[in-house]
Amino acid sequence: MNEMDMTQIPRHIAIIMDGNGRWAQKHKLPRSAGHQQGVEAIRDVIKMASQLKVRVLTLYAFSTENWKRPEEEVSFLMKLLVEYLKKEIEELHKQNVIIRTIGDLSAFPLRVQREIEKAKEKTAANNGLIMNIALNYGSRNEIGRALKTIAEKYKEQIISSEDFTDEIIGAYLDTKGLPDPDLLIRTSGEKRISNFLLWQIAYAELYFTDVLWPDFRGEDLIKAIVDYQLRQRRFGGLG
Ligand code: FPP
Repeated sequence: MNEMDMTQIPRHIAIIMDGNGRWAQKHKLPRSAGHQQGVEAIRDVIKMASQLKVRVLTLYAFSTENWKRPEEEVSFLMKLLVEYLKKEIEELHKQNVIIRTIGDLSAFPLRVQREIEKAKEKTAANNGLIMNIALNYGSRNEIGRALKTIAEKYKEQIISSEDFTDEIIGAYLDTKGLPDPDLLIRTSGEKRISNFLLWQIAYAELYFTDVLWPDFRGEDLIKAIVDYQLRQRRFGGLG
């Protein structure tokens, strides 16, 4: 904590929470136990990010590709999400957290959609950390949906071809209104982006750690931020 520059806290941190399955295997437990333990990490990271006054924390909880997993695991993840929202919403609200999501929620069972909607409504007027949960999210799917909306607006002559700028494209993505991530963290030693925020991470700093997600805690977030603060960001210029 002493090494941290409180004036250089990333505004938006995005995390690929990876390694739940390997954590479970290491502890000779079913994969579901790894996901369950992953919720502990979420709790701790939310607390730390709030304390550090990070503006947005985007968590990759369920990708468009995760449907390929056994049905049992998919329904466990849904159950875990609903339980998490039911159990933690009061505490998150107290912490002034705003819940947002990115991704196509229409594929989720109605009861899951309703719980997410309730959590969003309850926390909408807060002004603390934005906990942005990526659910049925894939960057290519997001860009595809944005293009479809842009094409419709074009057809209706609401926008013209001159409007097809970086800003307009960004404004039709699920992350509209949010700053781009400054820092992207992936746990578990894998060094891939896995279809996560491809447009938005154009200038993000990437941080990879071997820590498995269920073991990740506030102090690991601090380590990542200190590492980020040692980087010289040039955004294509000379710095
Ligand atoms: C990746 O680990 C993790 C996931 C696909 C799910 C992440 C979900 C949570 C942490 C909990 C639920 C979320 C909320 C917001 C309550 P993996 O299963 O791919 O791990 P492995 O690569 O070691 O098998």
